Amino acid sequence: MSITAVIGGQWGDEGKGKIVDLMSREANMVARFQGGANAGHTVYRGQKKIILHQVPSGILTDDCKCIMGNGMVIDPVELVEELKMLDEEGVNYKGWIHIAPNAHIVTPVHKYIDYRNEQKTNKKIGTTCRGIGPAYVDKYNRCGIRALDLKDFKNLKKQVIKRLDLAISSGQIPADDRKNILEEIEIFLINSKSIIYMLEDTFSMLHDMVSCDKNILIEGAQGTMLDVNHGTYPFVTSSSPSSGGITTGLGLPLTKVNRIVGIFKAYTTRVGKGPFPTELDDNNGEKFRKHGKEFGATTGRSRRCGWFDAVEAKYSVQINGFTEITLTKLDILDHFPEIKICVGYDSNGVKTKQMSKFISNLSQVKPIYKTFNGWNRSLVGISSYKDLPQEAKEYIQFIESFVKAPIRIISIGPGRDEIIHLD
Ligand code: GDP
Ligand code: IMO
Ligand code: MG
Repeated sequence: MSITAVIGGQWGDEGKGKIVDLMSREANMVARFQGGANAGHTVYRGQKKIILHQVPSGILTDDCKCIMGNGMVIDPVELVEELKMLDEEGVNYKGWIHIAPNAHIVTPVHKYIDYRNEQKTNKKIGTTCRGIGPAYVDKYNRCGIRALDLKDFKNLKKQVIKRLDLAISSGQIPADDRKNILEEIEIFLINSKSIIYMLEDTFSMLHDMVSCDKNILIEGAQGTMLDVNHGTYPFVTSSSPSSGGITTGLGLPLTKVNRIVGIFKAYTTRVGKGPFPTELDDNNGEKFRKHGKEFGATTGRSRRCGWFDAVEAKYSVQINGFTEITLTKLDILDHFPEIKICVGYDSNGVKTKQMSKFISNLSQVKPIYKTFNGWNRSLVGISSYKDLPQEAKEYIQFIESFVKAPIRIISIGPGRDEIIHLD
């Protein structure tokens, strides 16, 4: 039996979807524990690209139960859209997706508040406008709507409209928009009805699997630097994407988890606002974006790109307790004659290798780099570590020794099998 967690080690979009899809071949269950439709996880079914937002990436694997855990904020409208897409792709999901009754629900009111918050401030977070923050606010304010509330249709409608009127009276939403939002609420109600059949005691399902020694995969969304506790606050999401979130988001103690796999890109990207020490505004940044096709899977926004930040990665290893690392998109570095890794920060002459020291004023730090030779050749087709160019091995070994966690998988392309296993 193995319980494995796959966690984003950076600012999201590290390639978690690909790795979960790969590992789910061995899994009996894949469970999401936080976030919602802000996630965009790319998986390939043959040549066909599929982007999953709320449904766990294990859905493409036969006989794999998919759990949407209590720590998630679930949007029924987006979910129905996603299910339609799965139908069109011929994916058999019926009976395989299970929603925790105590997961919270994102309504059109939350999405609208999120959108308005982003519009009316000059301190934008650059959210995905999927209503994530406002839904978690209601959860922690103990006035949220939970998945189990979808069953009581009349009361649900009352609750959502009450929340809309509260948003209007408190100035969060202009009164002029009430009519439009009421129309969206009608669609929300119809979609909500259609997902009720997925509600299940997922807690028991999960723990039955644990007792029967089955293989469970836990799928993180977003990344550690977007964690509301440890990330670049306030430029974060509103959940705990790091491994600590698993315990509360599924009701599964971390002592049960055997492997915690940190997914890192071989360079760094970030979508939305907030500090990013190794960001490149030059030709190299553009090269990463072009070769790495760095455009958001959820919003289509252009991703900010930069060198690998080993100071950040080490911090992430400490927070998550990664037992191993998967390094993705190493193939994108094929195009760089010289490659840099950030090995320290300098803030007005104060140097450190510890991210926590500057986590609240990260925009002021300047990265200290170590330069590596590029390998100037394509990694396509390589399936064994020994066949990697020496320069690539040096790059990998340096990261391992700096962050103090072993790299066990290297990904060199978007396809399921473009992978190198290290012993
Ligand atoms: P996630 O949110 O962590 O699942 O990552 P995204 O799906 O948002 O973004 C990762 C992107 O990189 C997707 O387009 C993947 O298909 C692609 N990808 C994943 N691994 C690799 C890799 O090793 N090489 C290349 N070239 N692309 C990859
Ligand atoms: P996956 O799972 C990258 C970012 C947004 C914004 C901040 C807050 O695909 O890695 P939110 O809508 O969550 O309130 O936005 O978090 N963000 C992500 N960035 N990948 C994601 O998910 C993200 N989910 C949220 O861009 O900066
Ligand atoms: Mg993504």
